[in-house]
Amino acid sequence: KIGEFADEFGVNAYIVGGFVRDLILGRKNFDVDIVIEGDATEFAKKVAKKANAKVHTFERFKTATVVFPDGFRIDFASARTEVYKAPGALPEVDMAPLKKDLMRRDFTINTLAIKLNKKEFGKLIDFFGGLRDIKDRKIRILHSLSFVEDPTRILRALRFATRYRFELGKHTEKLLKIAVQRKLFKTVEGQRIYHELKQIFLEDNPLRVVNKLAYYKVLSSIFPTIVWDKKKKDLFERIRKVIIWHKLNFQEKEIRYDLLYFGALLIGQSFQKIDTYLDNLSVPEKDREILKEILLKASYLLKEVNKERKNSEIYKLVSRFKEEVLLFAASLTEEEWKREKILEYLKSWRFTKPAVTGDNLKAIGLKPGPIFREILNELKYRLIDKEIPEDKEKQLDFVK
Ligand code: CTP
Repeated sequence: KIGEFADEFGVNAYIVGGFVRDLILGRKNFDVDIVIEGDATEFAKKVAKKANAKVHTFERFKTATVVFPDGFRIDFASARTEVYKAPGALPEVDMAPLKKDLMRRDFTINTLAIKLNKKEFGKLIDFFGGLRDIKDRKIRILHSLSFVEDPTRILRALRFATRYRFELGKHTEKLLKIAVQRKLFKTVEGQRIYHELKQIFLEDNPLRVVNKLAYYKVLSSIFPTIVWDKKKKDLFERIRKVIIWHKLNFQEKEIRYDLLYFGALLIGQSFQKIDTYLDNLSVPEKDREILKEILLKASYLLKEVNKERKNSEIYKLVSRFKEEVLLFAASLTEEEWKREKILEYLKSWRFTKPAVTGDNLKAIGLKPGPIFREILNELKYRLIDKEIPEDKEKQLDFVK
């Protein structure tokens, strides 16, 4: 459809970047990026009108996002033809705007495009050998200054290499090492580094990425005092298992799994050090709060969960904490039974409800009041401790 619109409006449209890369690799990717040779905001507005969709435009960057009625989104960007030509300058060698757009990107595997116009629909455009590099399983930068221009690409290179099990190209690896040696991270805004770290922690297996960060001394250049030892690696592994368990059981999208890994990286550092790191990375307030809770409360909670306590007492203790704190504590402990108690809380205790209701209590002649809450809570605790049966009549007998 986009191709038909493009023909109608007389522009060229291409699907570019990660989507094409993942299409060739046979991986799912729902981030559709389209480059328009022309004004993408005007184009997106027209597409949205025709498709009854919503459009958000960013005029300054000439980009737009169209959100279709079913929730599907497409991002549009303009491949800009050069506007700032010095008066009297020699005419530039004519280069397709698309090529110029793709030339600014990080790695060859991200520079593939597919044409969407009817004429040549589906044509793969590969200016920089991206297809060859996907076949060779190599991460390659486009030009020697790539890491200097944007050092966050160092993090991206290692993230993609891990995700696809690709290797760094020889030249790329050499330049990456030089960039790390020259401490180029110091020149980058903290929040951009944090954004890439977050992407790493959201990967399927951050442990493997951080292993690479440590190997290339990227980790120590961002966090000089953090030691990537067996203890941290084991913790990363347990976090991964807990997250897999949690995702299988719940589909809560709001849980900040990334912060569990970040917490694991930071744990053991002094609070002063942690604050410095978080300041340097301009970590947003919301993230800081969750991280602080994780780091401050998980160990306390684990101390309090002990064998003398009944399940209902553990319930009362544990229910006061954020889910991220519980997941972190469940990962942090090396005692299997503690982990099981916490996960049992998440999986069943917190949903436990007595069969008896307020109406039932009225029916047996009790006067409504705060006592109802107390009785119902007591029933819940007894249920969690398996001291009363699930059956309603028997629970009522117990109340009486
Ligand atoms: N890009 C870049 N330099 C950066 C960040 C991004 O050149 N520091 C380019 C990449 O070529 C990428 C595009 O911008 O294809 C979009 O970036 P992003 O959405 O982060 O990348 P994806 O490839 O879609 O990665 P992911 O699969 O992780 O979403």
